[in-house]
Amino acid sequence: MKLIFLGPPGAGKGTQAELTSQRFGVAHISTGDMLRAEMREGTKLGLEAKAYVERGELVPDDVIMGMIAERILKADCAGGYLFDGFPRTIAQAEALSKISDIDIVINLEVPPEVIVRRIGGRRMCAGCGACFHTSTFDGDFCDKCGAALYTRDDDKPETVANRIEVYERKTKPLVEFYQKLGLLRTVDASGSPQSVQERIDALLGDIR
Ligand code: AP5
Repeated sequence: MKLIFLGPPGAGKGTQAELTSQRFGVAHISTGDMLRAEMREGTKLGLEAKAYVERGELVPDDVIMGMIAERILKADCAGGYLFDGFPRTIAQAEALSKISDIDIVINLEVPPEVIVRRIGGRRMCAGCGACFHTSTFDGDFCDKCGAALYTRDDDKPETVANRIEVYERKTKPLVEFYQKLGLLRTVDASGSPQSVQERIDALLGDIR
């Protein structure tokens, strides 16, 4: 199974991608997580990406495509994979179509006020990268690995506003792109993670 999670910042792509990858045994490929790991390690790619990520701008397509082409060759991708936060431009989607087929694109739809609430309360683990929300977890340390939790630099309100604008301009056209290919399924992503998960499961049942 090869799938894409599409949706605006804070829609819950990472949360649902993690749950889906565990349930279906496919690799979870998050370009955002990959870039944050490169930035943490201070690699050349990470230093190049940092300026874009901190402004809420997209990292250049060729950088992202280089990462993806390498990633899908890894052993854990043999049984399928799901993309979270990729592709993000028409150019990325076209480049992807040359290196991989895709079974389904799940478009997570949420109202703007939910986006603001979800991003406003997000906390990340500096150790294992787990994601939390202050409404359901009020600790300062990760309950999985014990490392400190932090707020992402690009979750500042002014950067979030730019990320949403960039999504509307550069990523939202992918909804029509994948609709025309007959691959798009839109899911109401408001409500609890469990209720969203059930809606996604209902769509994936036919594909497995
Ligand atoms: P990326 O990390 O991909 O960020 P994003 O797409 O903006 O998405 P988010 O991570 O903000 O949100 P999400 O939809 O995953 O929601 P989450 O599950 O965390 O990218 C960051 C940056 O990297 C980009 O701005 C860009 O610079 C660069 N980049 C990445 N990919 C790129 C690409 N392909 N091309 C170019 N540049 C790229 O949930 C949010 C919060 O809500 C969490 O706290 C979570 O616990 C909570 N939550 C989730 N679901 C629910 C629910 N149902 N109910 C209540 N709370 C929930």
